[in-house]
Amino acid sequence: MSATPGIADSKCVLVIGATAGIGRALAASIHSLPSKPTVVVSGRRQQRLDELCKTGLETIQFDANTDAKSLKAFVDDLLERYPQLDTIVFSAAVQQEFDFAKPETIDLKKFYSELNLNYVMIVTLITYLLPHFFKLGEQGQPCFIVPITSNLGIAPGAWTPCYSATKAALHSLSLSLNEQLKDTNVHIMEIMPPLVESELHDTAGNTGKVAKYWMPLEMFVHDVMEGLKRGDRTIAVGLSREQYERFEKGKEDVVHQTMEVWKTW
Ligand SMILES: NC(=O)c1ccc[n+]([C@@H]2O[C@H](COP(=O)([O-])OP(=O)(O)OC[C@H]3O[C@@H](n4cnc5c(N)ncnc54)[C@H](OP(=O)(O)O)[C@@H]3O)[C@@H](O)[C@H]2O)c1
Repeated sequence: MSATPGIADSKCVLVIGATAGIGRALAASIHSLPSKPTVVVSGRRQQRLDELCKTGLETIQFDANTDAKSLKAFVDDLLERYPQLDTIVFSAAVQQEFDFAKPETIDLKKFYSELNLNYVMIVTLITYLLPHFFKLGEQGQPCFIVPITSNLGIAPGAWTPCYSATKAALHSLSLSLNEQLKDTNVHIMEIMPPLVESELHDTAGNTGKVAKYWMPLEMFVHDVMEGLKRGDRTIAVGLSREQYERFEKGKEDVVHQTMEVWKTW
């Protein structure tokens, strides 16, 4: 095992939201590592899951935009099937547009649903998985939580305020988890993509517009895999790297110092 644990140490990886885009490409790259981990992919579209099954991936059809009770049942079933699960990648997300200059157009149901999938679901699954990860960690198996945030979590995209807020929240949570779990064998590797080729922008019907600006998926995944193999705490790519260097660098130290002060209270 390398000095800093990384994705090559994983034996069983679950990718939530892997029927398209970044999740699907990462699942394939992790599956092709020489360490040959079991890779379990999930999403709602069964036909896509069937295609992924043919490539040697394990599949679970699951709508992750659900309540705590269903998420608990999902985790119980998952750990029964895959007791060696040591890594979870959170790729599922949606990106909706809301215009607060026209409050009558704000669909709060949609807003809450986005908040749930992009943030609350992730917190819930982490809470349910941590006891299992701690147990594996104590047995010497490094475990990994891999949240996928965004440069829009650093400086919001004002047209998509809920999405940006969920990514900022997830980034903040990642910093806190990193500090709180420091003395355990559970590691956070936060991926911060820039605009990347995917289906994420289809819902707004503007894929044609953004396609001119996005980073090709293959190039993005190559950079991310290097970071995951090194066990980097933050894997910020392209524009996200620039914004991370400008606004976020050094925050981890402040989080640590604040925690040390808090312990003395
Ligand atoms: N692409 C970008 O420009 C970009 C930039 C910054 C950050 N990110 C982040 O990167 C991650 C991946 O995004 P992407 O661009 O790859 O998006 P994508 O192409 O739209 O893929 C999203 C995946 O999430 C799944 N998903 C959506 N709703 C789900 C639900 N309710 N339950 C289970 N799975 C669900 C989809 O599968 P089903 O439809 O089959 O359920 C799909 O596999 C997201 O967290 C996104 O915020 C992306």
